[in-house]
Amino acid sequence: MSKLCVIGTGYVGLVTGTCFADLGNQVVCMDIDDNRISQLNKGVMPIYEPGLEQLVLQNVKAGRLTFTTDYAAALKDADFAFIAVGTPSGDEGEADLQYVRSAAEAIADLVEKPVVVVNKSTVPVGTGDWVADIIRKRRNGRPLQFSVASNPEFLREGSAINDFMMPDRVVLGSEDRKAAEAVAELYAALRCQILITDLRTAEMIKYASNAFLATKISFVNEIANICEELGADVRQVAVGMGLDKRIGPAFLDAGLGWGGSCFPKDVKALAHMAVLHGSQPQLLQAVMDINRMQRRRMVMKLRKNLGSLDEKTIGVLGISFKPNTDDLRDAPALEIIHLLQLEGAKVQAYDPQGMENAAKILKSVKLCKNPYEVAEGADALVLATEWNEFKQLDFARIRGLMAKPIIMDGRNLWDPQHLRELGFDYTGVGRP
Ligand code: UDX
Ligand code: UDX
Repeated sequence: MSKLCVIGTGYVGLVTGTCFADLGNQVVCMDIDDNRISQLNKGVMPIYEPGLEQLVLQNVKAGRLTFTTDYAAALKDADFAFIAVGTPSGDEGEADLQYVRSAAEAIADLVEKPVVVVNKSTVPVGTGDWVADIIRKRRNGRPLQFSVASNPEFLREGSAINDFMMPDRVVLGSEDRKAAEAVAELYAALRCQILITDLRTAEMIKYASNAFLATKISFVNEIANICEELGADVRQVAVGMGLDKRIGPAFLDAGLGWGGSCFPKDVKALAHMAVLHGSQPQLLQAVMDINRMQRRRMVMKLRKNLGSLDEKTIGVLGISFKPNTDDLRDAPALEIIHLLQLEGAKVQAYDPQGMENAAKILKSVKLCKNPYEVAEGADALVLATEWNEFKQLDFARIRGLMAKPIIMDGRNLWDPQHLRELGFDYTGVGRP
């Protein structure tokens, strides 16, 4: 059993801390947000993540998992201090490291026994060395035995617990092999492949992985756009491509493109790092441009079908950036709603888990209780997020509720033939 402190109880920190507790460690999750911690202490989750609540409650009950805002108490006995604070995009596209800095400073101020500082936040290549420097300078000669390791997270929201417990790989980077091996021990029970590298290589693996996945999606979206012109079906094209083991079937779903808390900021940050160091990241730029256009194309398709969007009522199904999360960060739906409003459209929307977050940020959008209320009086219905509950809607009822039978399926969720038989004018992405 090891003693862990996890700084930051967001999507990554909370899942990581809880899963390590479940593996038998003693974990203190620390956050500067009072409200978040007091809710967690009452058993109320700050985020929607399938399976998380039960796992948290179980481990709190077993005495392995606690929550606090007190940095000193959280760090006092820690063998490992995980940094899992946010690293949002700064003005230039760079990763904003102010929260990582304050975590490193707290560690320098409050830890007095040997510790491995493990960075889980996605940070620019070289940040591990920077964190070590901050700690060293701040100690100002006061001795502290510490090492820094990078341990990037590969957790998908919506399946984060599974991704933690059954990872394809664990990546660990450190200049101190022993420290990396100590972190590797924490994962030993998972019996997965563990790759140990130097610090900078581990940091780069994270960016390169996310950028590659985003590239795969932008690639298939570009193919989808070409399919639309040439009369091919991108869904079958993706199946045909994916059967080739060198390509693989995952991340080839054409649609409205990628959003979320990671891909957008990570691709931007990697491109920014490249430019700063004299490279021309042309592919990354194209990957981002295609993604931006993918959202705009949906609005263009609507305009083509409806003419002017002024005063038109558009229903939007799904607001979260992907299914099974309440996270709206950089969700394609938000940009589409914004573009529609700029053209004078009235928007009504519904999301299975994202309504609370939507209410905080969406202005002048009618927030509905279910998909049928979204359809009521709508001139068109846009599917932005492919939640399971949208798969089997009563389309005959929806047809009766809508002002015009126009369906824009932004995630290729529905059967075009079935909808056309019901009298809908159906448009998907990359489908004839
Ligand atoms: C994480 C990573 O840290 C990010 O780099 C990665 O790419 C994606 O996942 P995430 O868990 O999504 O971020 O962040 P968020 O949900 O914003 O949570 C961050 C938490 O850290 C918040 O609860 C915030 O209150 C807390 N925090 C922030 C601290 O405890 N201390 C700080 O100084 C700043
Ligand atoms: C991502 C990484 O996958 C994960 O390893 C970690 O680094 C955190 O960031 P996440 O953002 O939670 O996870 O979701 P992911 O499943 O990767 O989807 C990202 C976006 O791509 C979503 O908006 C999703 O709708 C979109 N997507 C995904 C597609 O448009 N098509 C696909 O085929 C797959």
